[in-house]
Amino acid sequence: MPHLPEPGARPHGCVLWKNLRIVPPGWRSGLVPLCDLAVEGLRIAWLGAAGQAPAGFQAALQHDLGGALVTPGLIDCHTHLVHGGQRANEFALRLAGASYEDIARQGGGIVSSVRATRAADEDTLFQQALKRLDALRAEGVTAIEIKSGYGLDLDTERKMLRVARRLGEARPVTVRTTFLGAHALPPEYAGRADDYIDLVCNVMLPALDDEGLVDAVDVFCEGIGFSLAQSERVLQAATRRGLAVKMHAEQLSLMGGAALAARYGALSADHLEWLDDAGAQAMRQAGMVAVLLPGAYYFLRDTHVPPIELLRRHGVPIALATDCNPGTSPATSLLLMLNMACTLFRMTVAEALDGVTCHAADALGCVGVSGRLAVGHPADFAVWDIDSPAELAYWMGLPRCRMSVRQGSIAFQSTR
Ligand code: NIG
Ligand code: FE
Repeated sequence: MPHLPEPGARPHGCVLWKNLRIVPPGWRSGLVPLCDLAVEGLRIAWLGAAGQAPAGFQAALQHDLGGALVTPGLIDCHTHLVHGGQRANEFALRLAGASYEDIARQGGGIVSSVRATRAADEDTLFQQALKRLDALRAEGVTAIEIKSGYGLDLDTERKMLRVARRLGEARPVTVRTTFLGAHALPPEYAGRADDYIDLVCNVMLPALDDEGLVDAVDVFCEGIGFSLAQSERVLQAATRRGLAVKMHAEQLSLMGGAALAARYGALSADHLEWLDDAGAQAMRQAGMVAVLLPGAYYFLRDTHVPPIELLRRHGVPIALATDCNPGTSPATSLLLMLNMACTLFRMTVAEALDGVTCHAADALGCVGVSGRLAVGHPADFAVWDIDSPAELAYWMGLPRCRMSVRQGSIAFQSTR
């Protein structure tokens, strides 16, 4: 193994990464050609056939990757990484026959994580989330979206978003925050959902946005979440402030949330098990990404597969994410999501890989991330100890990420 700078150390000048095999978007089969990649500062300055870099780049600090496969740094574009406690008891209840909706209506579900998150102090939330983040980083993840939504009051939503920002300072990972105040109705607003939406739109969102804590806004549009009309008010409030929007839509029922999100130019609609033709068409026209969450589908023992064929037919880009959360997807492996997307949703390996790279970046509006390796793009990539790109979706466990580079600096190195 060549000598490498310490993780997080910022290289001076230019670095030439030699003898990589970059898995191209849409890779199906066959050998990936050898290439070299030059990094200047945070970005890719040159990319081409091995040994062909112009003389100026040859003089740079060089690292020989010995023909290793390289992908863009993986992007987990939908997580609830910051949360207090766990809900293994509800898992047991569901195995005994209770439905996710039954548990939510009886005061469990999201609201039980709200109690735990309100009770936890900021450092505890930070330490717990850091472990989950490190598990993702060990799999080549260089960027992550983190939602609030287990606070449901101003102070706790702020606490969650501050933890998300701190995670991005504590580790070399790009963090995009999403305010999900409209995740569930807090108990103190029982029977007053519209009043709670007022609070979300008129108090929480402006305050948190003014504090620089909000990169995007999300809403859970569902029978056990918020109605179309309530969801629309959240989208209006966010777009009035110029914030990007997204939506948890059509997860447990068809409500028309995806089409509503399309009217507001949302970046993505997420889950989408019940998406219909009109919704898919609207998403395509609005240039949205469909974020599918196989971990939640699996963990809820759902049987209604998201309409992959419909998304393909309409040309809606598909992203994949962990949805890491204590209720429906206690998952900290994005690679396992690739495996599930292929086995449970019948996606191809190429679709799955694009789903955690370029399309995941699109779902984040490509702000600070690209998910593509090309000149001028951020130098975010993962180096893999595997022989075939298909292995990324094939193994269940034992991540084979040798190292990752984020914005030109080494962000993770395996000790295996
Ligand atoms: O993405 N669907 C709503 N939100 C989360 C689940 C939250 C929970 O149950 O704690 C999701 O699946
Ligand atoms: Fe979610």
